[in-house]
Amino acid sequence: MSLDETYRGYLKTFCKIGGYIVSIGLLGFFFVFVGYVIIQLHQFIPLSPNNELKCSRFGDGSEDGERLLNEYLINRTTINGNETKLKTKTCWDIRKRRYFPIFLPNRIEFPYHVYFIRLVTKDYNFVEQTLSMLFSPQHFYCLPIDTRANENFEEKIRNFGLCMLNVVVPSGKFDGTNPIEVFAAHRACVDAMPNYKWRHMVILQEHEIPLQSIQVINKNISRLGQNTRIGSNVITRGFIENFNHHETDHNSTLSMTDYLKETLQQWWHLKLKPFFLSRNFYEKFHVFIKKEMTRKDFDDQQVVVRDTTNSTCLSEEFDEAQNCILGMENYQEIIKSNELFTRANPRFDLGFVDCIHELVFNRTFSRWIQ
Ligand SMILES: *[C@@H]1O[C@H](CO)[C@@H](O)[C@H](O)[C@H]1NC(C)=O
Ligand SMILES: *[C@@H]1O[C@H](CO)[C@@H](O)[C@H](O)[C@H]1NC(C)=O
Ligand SMILES: *[C@@H]1O[C@H](CO)[C@@H](O)[C@H](O)[C@H]1NC(C)=O
Ligand SMILES: *[C@@H]1O[C@H](CO)[C@@H](O)[C@H](O)[C@H]1NC(C)=O
Ligand SMILES: *[C@@H]1O[C@H](CO)[C@@H](O)[C@H](O)[C@H]1NC(C)=O
Ligand SMILES: *[C@@H]1O[C@H](CO)[C@@H](O)[C@H](O)[C@H]1NC(C)=O
Repeated sequence: MSLDETYRGYLKTFCKIGGYIVSIGLLGFFFVFVGYVIIQLHQFIPLSPNNELKCSRFGDGSEDGERLLNEYLINRTTINGNETKLKTKTCWDIRKRRYFPIFLPNRIEFPYHVYFIRLVTKDYNFVEQTLSMLFSPQHFYCLPIDTRANENFEEKIRNFGLCMLNVVVPSGKFDGTNPIEVFAAHRACVDAMPNYKWRHMVILQEHEIPLQSIQVINKNISRLGQNTRIGSNVITRGFIENFNHHETDHNSTLSMTDYLKETLQQWWHLKLKPFFLSRNFYEKFHVFIKKEMTRKDFDDQQVVVRDTTNSTCLSEEFDEAQNCILGMENYQEIIKSNELFTRANPRFDLGFVDCIHELVFNRTFSRWIQ
């Protein structure tokens, strides 16, 4: 072995080691880069809604706040029902205008799947806005269209359903004044999503809007367990398991059928609170509606008594079921309430809707926007 050969051997080994070092360096750099990109992509930045009103100052008790509120009340912002200007041609327009996150950090939500259903008639922009207040990628939303809706509205809602992965718009239209058809609309929503493992179905009225964050609402619903809540009546899991038409609950003078009938009549006429229907009751419930309830049963109003004690409606504005629609004069009071939903109408007071939107946004994303 000559000196030259030994030298060449060393050189070879040296090059090999150098090659390894460079490779490892490049590989390391590559992993750091990929990690950086992933972190950047998952950076979670909620986009707050546009709102020019200084919501928290309206009627905040200060002299300035009272003046601001009184000035606002003389001339509320409203929509006049003319939404032809709203751009909705593409899904991009919707995503640009509203915050509908495709993913949320894991800890933001409790893994309990809910199917929110609302029959819609008019005011597309309001539908889109209130859905964004309730939005989470883990839930599904169904928007059956009322027969009273006009063509322009229907087209926009159907387009919205096509743009959003978790928004379902059943084909056909449903007469919202007929309870049997309203329940048929809910059925259509469920049939459109046969594989979706929802635990509760939440039936909302057109003017019911969330007041709490989706996390709080979801947690509240999950605590119902396997119970159903119709208005303020709870139908327990025990009742549901034993529920059999014509059988009498021995502990009460009413038969189970009559009890359920009355509860439903009451809910239909008062429409005071949402209907939280649990999955274990769903099939039995729909058989019951089909077999036991006719439109005439619902039209019979004799059993329904509206509790009118302490019911002052500051805004003096009511919905079709004679429930109070809230306005800016209620803002300071309603933000202290722990109700899950409230009532608003953009044709009466759009500013109030926008303020509740901002409030709910803050409540939902407070941890991410500071
Ligand atoms: C109310 O506001 C609208 C537009 O914001 C304005 O055109 C109208 O003159 C106002 N009316 C009153 C009474 O202030
Ligand atoms: C709605 O807007 C269109 C076009 O701008 C107009 O022709 C129509 O008169 C408006 N309708 C109402 C009710 O304001
Ligand atoms: C009826 O009452 C008894 C005792 O009070 C109770 O054990 C039973 O669960 C009740 N039945 C129903 C269906 O609520
Ligand atoms: C309802 O009205 C009664 C009698 O006027 C009063 O005593 C009670 O405090 C009121 N309740 C609420 C929640 O305002
Ligand atoms: C759920 O919300 C209702 C108000 O709608 C409230 O009365 C109830 O206490 C809440 N339940 C829980 C467990 O937070
Ligand atoms: C929402 O949060 C922002 C930023 O913290 C604040 O300026 C705004 O007043 C809040 N809005 C409401 C309605 O609470």
